[in-house]
Amino acid sequence: MIELKIDNRTVEANEGETVLQAALRHGIEIPHFCYHPCLSIAGNCRICLVKVTGRPKLMPSCNLAVTPGMEIETDSDDVIAARQAVMQFITLNHPGECGICDKAGECRLQDYHVRYGEPESISLEPKNKKPKFYDISPRILLDSERCILCSRCVRFTKEVSGSHQLGIVERGNHSRLERLESQPMDDPYSDNIIGLCPVGALLSRDFLYQSRVWYLEPIRSVCTGCSRCCSVKVWRRNRHWHLRSLGEEMNRKVYRVTPQENREINGPWICNKGFDLHKFMGRKRLLQPMIGGSVATVDEALSEAKKLLAAAKSPAALVSAHASNEELAAFKETLGSRMTVYSREDYKAEEGEVVEDNILIRENKNPNSHGVHAMFGDLPWSVDSGHDLVLVWGDNVDYTPMGNAKVIHLASFEMPQERHADVLIPISTTFERSGSFTNFEGKVNRFTKVFDKPGLVQQAGDVFGRLGA
Ligand code: SF4
Ligand code: SF4
Ligand code: SF4
Ligand code: FES
Repeated sequence: MIELKIDNRTVEANEGETVLQAALRHGIEIPHFCYHPCLSIAGNCRICLVKVTGRPKLMPSCNLAVTPGMEIETDSDDVIAARQAVMQFITLNHPGECGICDKAGECRLQDYHVRYGEPESISLEPKNKKPKFYDISPRILLDSERCILCSRCVRFTKEVSGSHQLGIVERGNHSRLERLESQPMDDPYSDNIIGLCPVGALLSRDFLYQSRVWYLEPIRSVCTGCSRCCSVKVWRRNRHWHLRSLGEEMNRKVYRVTPQENREINGPWICNKGFDLHKFMGRKRLLQPMIGGSVATVDEALSEAKKLLAAAKSPAALVSAHASNEELAAFKETLGSRMTVYSREDYKAEEGEVVEDNILIRENKNPNSHGVHAMFGDLPWSVDSGHDLVLVWGDNVDYTPMGNAKVIHLASFEMPQERHADVLIPISTTFERSGSFTNFEGKVNRFTKVFDKPGLVQQAGDVFGRLGA
């Protein structure tokens, strides 16, 4: 441990830490654009300048290692004056269009401008024009006028995703971010740079002009795209801003999905499939219980399912790898001992999808295969198993190999089938329940309910409780 003084306060820092890192860890705020804890130090924005006793010039705190007895001032008059000068420089050609910028409300430049910006520019020159709404990829737009050339996005593609698909070209006020000319930007982690950008230069096409961020609130959830089970924030409209004029669809909508930092599982990143989680969850839902393809009430469907279960001589259950640990436990307690339990992977990698890499993406495209195996062992579904009834739990299953067996199906999404299930019961999605998954490393990750489930949709745990009673 190294002792130093920051603003006359004695703080302890670790060997090798920078002044900025030590200050932030002790709750002392020093503004920063280009510094990011998971990227290399670039030291190019200069907003983090501090005064070091005994040194003639102000120093960038993100690139200054702590030494014993060091004395730092972060809010002296000359430091504040330097920050104001840096802000003048950074905003010299900045368009100042917060009124139409998606980043407004979560933009560092906007926040620092409130603290250190001058009301007027000292420049008399007209602002430099650069390309706006430039295609970085089918997913991301670049507004070069808003870019402050901090290089966070460039370092991300070099140091984290490894695609090396971005760079800064030209010099002086012609400098701008560019993608590789020779290939489309197909980095499977590319959407991370949207949040990483400290300003509104990188824009998500999906979220473009969808909502002001202050009308939204993040709910902690888990991505179901693979067995990594990354933590995510699911952004829904804040309940105080549910407006009648917007209608049910806009009030009950996931506006975007972003990473939730989780050091144990995914660090600060997720892959693009995680950013698209709301599209996966937004597919056409099953909302109506059915008996043999005809509309039924929940009570009628449950009572028919109970009759089929009672009459079955050799019942089996095909357990979903999208079920939560809590639902699996409820199933085991109520029905598990009465039937042979098989496991399955509800989803496989789709064409063109990255199957596996050494960053986050895992080959198993389901969140809770580990939880299923831990509870029921590894008994994969076999076609010739000779059961007269199959309780199918989960989506994306074909009844054909089940032959003449009766089918009770609990599913969340519509799917084409050659024949109707004998009983079909709609169940909630991950966004409509709370619970946990166990990832491929055996780490448990919890998710929270984002929305109430629709009226006739059931919680799987409640269905098992009623069938087992
Ligand atoms: S990047 Fe920030 S400061 Fe610039 S227009 Fe957008 S919100 Fe305003
Ligand atoms: S686009 Fe954003 S992250 Fe990339 S260099 Fe410009 S300001 Fe930095
Ligand atoms: S790595 Fe897997 S769990 Fe993580 S965001 Fe991507 S698909 Fe989702
Ligand atoms: S944060 Fe230190 S120079 Fe940018």
